[in-house]
Amino acid sequence: MSEKVYLYPVWIRFWHWTNAFLCLLLIVTGISMQYSDPSFPMIRFDWSVSIHNTAGVLLAMSYLFFLLGNMVTSNGKHYVFRKGILKNLWAQARFYAFGIFKGENPPFPISVESKFNPLQKLSYIVIMHLAIPIVAISGVMLLYPEIIANEFFGSKALHTTDIFHVVMGFTVSLFLIVHLYFCTIGHTPTSNFKGMINGFHEKH
Ligand code: HEM
Repeated sequence: MSEKVYLYPVWIRFWHWTNAFLCLLLIVTGISMQYSDPSFPMIRFDWSVSIHNTAGVLLAMSYLFFLLGNMVTSNGKHYVFRKGILKNLWAQARFYAFGIFKGENPPFPISVESKFNPLQKLSYIVIMHLAIPIVAISGVMLLYPEIIANEFFGSKALHTTDIFHVVMGFTVSLFLIVHLYFCTIGHTPTSNFKGMINGFHEKH
């Protein structure tokens, strides 16, 4: 029998699945708007715009909920770099490249005090404290271009804001692919997914 630790309280699971659903909606409608031929769209253009705008506003709100949750609970401590981060990142990368295939134990066993390994921590911090804020702020600026973008940043603002929005949107999409792959490297290929549903992480 494997050991289980309770890592994901209800509020995190609620936030996480809301966030995942909204991100998927945003990615699908974003790609449809970016690439589709207007006369033969993947999703009707006006529907994509409406769904993208609504999901974007909801994502920004769910992000504020995540920030607040991390401030008022102890979850925020998992989103802070500790001393020796470079050495630890190297040890974790080495484990994924070699150790895992030789049956070695993970260098940073998951616990209530430390629930992310160094690579997970780095990717979650970059996505949640850099990419999502940039994509959300630039999204609001694109939603109200006449008020925000042009007023404060001049005539090139719209184009620059759009570039930030698209680059960060693709960054989140790439993160999602890598995130899903790494989630399958658990006790069993499905155990991490079950953990984000019932709250309990199954240890290796
Ligand atoms: C279908 C989409 C998704 C699935 C199936 C999924 C699955 C999971 C699973 C199984 C975990 C727990 C394992 C772990 O800690 O690594 C997790 C955690 C996490 N995921 Fe996802 N995820 C999805 C989308 C996303 C997206 C779009 C983001 C961010 C933009 C995200 C951010 C996170 C974060 C920050 C955590 C750690 C939460 C915490 O405990 O504080 N996930 N995800």
